[in-house]
Amino acid sequence: MKAVVQRRYGSAVLGDLDVPVPGQGEVLLEVRAAGVDMGTWHLLSGKPYLLRVIGFGFRGPKSPVPGRDVSGVVTAVGPQVTEFAVGDEVFGTCDGAFAEYAVTQAKRLARKPAGLSFAEAAAVPISGGTALQGLRSVKAGQRVLVLGAGGGVGSYGVQIARSLGAHVTGVCSTKKVELVRSLGVHEVVDYTVADFTGTYDLVLDCGGHRSLSRLRDAAGKRGTVVIVGSETTEPIFGGFDRSLRALALNLFVPQKLVGLTSAERGDVFEELRVLIEAGEVKPAVDRTFPLSEALEAIDHVYSRRSAGKVVVTI
Ligand SMILES: NC(=O)c1ccc[n+]([C@@H]2O[C@H](COP(=O)([O-])OP(=O)(O)OC[C@H]3O[C@@H](n4cnc5c(N)ncnc54)[C@H](OP(=O)(O)O)[C@@H]3O)[C@@H](O)[C@H]2O)c1
Repeated sequence: MKAVVQRRYGSAVLGDLDVPVPGQGEVLLEVRAAGVDMGTWHLLSGKPYLLRVIGFGFRGPKSPVPGRDVSGVVTAVGPQVTEFAVGDEVFGTCDGAFAEYAVTQAKRLARKPAGLSFAEAAAVPISGGTALQGLRSVKAGQRVLVLGAGGGVGSYGVQIARSLGAHVTGVCSTKKVELVRSLGVHEVVDYTVADFTGTYDLVLDCGGHRSLSRLRDAAGKRGTVVIVGSETTEPIFGGFDRSLRALALNLFVPQKLVGLTSAERGDVFEELRVLIEAGEVKPAVDRTFPLSEALEAIDHVYSRRSAGKVVVTI
């Protein structure tokens, strides 16, 4: 099969690999599309170095093929798989989506939402799942602030918070204002003109690397700050330092500070399928690239040229 092959951090090429064989609890997918996000860039570059220590491979990537978000058709099932059968159209995550075929555990998949193309479905799992898990505590009538509202996670954050009945304010740069408005936000703040003001019940922080004290101010006296992530060029922790500090600080401050680590699980993707089929959430796909241009797709995300999501189609 054709695949993007990555033996070392920092370089990858289009090459040929054997089609993988599904083991116990696994399925083989004919990949139709693979989502691209900042996580894809992190695993390709091996940066920040923290990710090498937490299990993705110290000297080189554990998976020879990058790409986690996936949509496709089940072409074989391993022993003890009862959830899916050959021919099912699914979406979810795997280790090696930038290939014609990929093996993954059945518990990392859900049925593809009706009415979505494979490209749209591949744009959902990690970003949509992260937003959903970050907004679990939101109740109708609450005020939610989404930082990075025009990005991958933020674009789902705006829609999911709205579907929960919250009043949603999205913060983004000028070129993403139109997209964020189209997602149904109540108020949009272009941070290149003036930054946000006021207080919110929940702040979903998906970009900008603002200080913890700035985020706590936005959460007022009793609000919640969910730190999804942000990018810095610091090589060891990247933007992850705030999540670690938030964990410690949370013990001493009135606001609730959460450093989110999202889970890649089929039941989360199933919740997203329901929201999508109910018309509450729609993936905002900025651009698709063919497999032969997968590295350009990653660069497109890394260089912040995308509004919403980027997808590689196979
Ligand atoms: N914790 C987890 O489990 C988890 C899961 C997924 C992702 N992440 C991390 O979360 C972060 C967001 O992921 P993503 O996929 O949404 O990335 P993304 O698509 O690149 O979106 C980030 C957004 O932040 C915006 N931004 C940059 N500076 C900003 C500022 N000062 N104020 C407001 N917005 C600003 C960017 O827009 P402009 O360029 O227009 O400013 C961009 O739209 C990344 O660091 C990623 O690694 C964490």
